[in-house]
Amino acid sequence: MRNITIAIDGYSSTGKSTLAKQLAKALEYVYVDTGAMYRAVTLFAMRNGFIANGIENIPALVRLLPKIQLKFVRNDKLKFSEMYLNGENVEKEIRQMEVSQYVSRIAEIEQVRYKLVDMQREMGRDKAIVMDGRDIGTTVFPDADLKIFMTASLQARTTRRYKELLEKGEEVTYEEVLENVQKRDYIDTHREFSPLMKAEDAIVFDNSDMGLKEQFERLESIARRYIAKE
Ligand code: DC
Repeated sequence: MRNITIAIDGYSSTGKSTLAKQLAKALEYVYVDTGAMYRAVTLFAMRNGFIANGIENIPALVRLLPKIQLKFVRNDKLKFSEMYLNGENVEKEIRQMEVSQYVSRIAEIEQVRYKLVDMQREMGRDKAIVMDGRDIGTTVFPDADLKIFMTASLQARTTRRYKELLEKGEEVTYEEVLENVQKRDYIDTHREFSPLMKAEDAIVFDNSDMGLKEQFERLESIARRYIAKE
């Protein structure tokens, strides 16, 4: 059986990561959540005062980019990889609402994208990988063997994200989450470098009315078909 590269792109809160993670596990492939990498750079920018309350110092962040070390480290207990920023486990912090508010701004910076795209290509050198993000099928791996473009209605995505944040104990309103999802959609699809876009050869996967089990079964069967192709 051949090893393939699977690129999963799509809007925020479509459940990409959950699905991509499950798929990687079933295929015994490496899973890479590229959103976590943009989030970790954002956390770094926040901690160093380069972005907060409308204040932005992008040149200072760009100067410090070589000092940002990112690594996925497998947590054997939880059975998934966690994001480490300069040696510190930041998996929880990068999922907070405050990081979500700034991350699209950070992801717009050309030099940030260059750095992270380089790292992502290196991670995918040996194939047998499922990578999810916004530009995987268009920029990181334009020759990926299988490209999926995930989408769902704005309402379905907001509800999912809202429930997820409440479960984590964050105090947010539905309206705040809706606004954040809309704003991220806008920035992600309108930025100059590698905007979120469906690759021409990507398969559209709309999961507005699909449960997790059904989504996984469909996706796994598509992936196995591609793997079996020579
Ligand atoms: O998938 P996520 O919500 O964790 O991603 C966080 C942000 O990072 C999202 O607003 C867009 C950005 N991103 C990106 O620009 N390119 C990627 N490949 C992955 C994420």
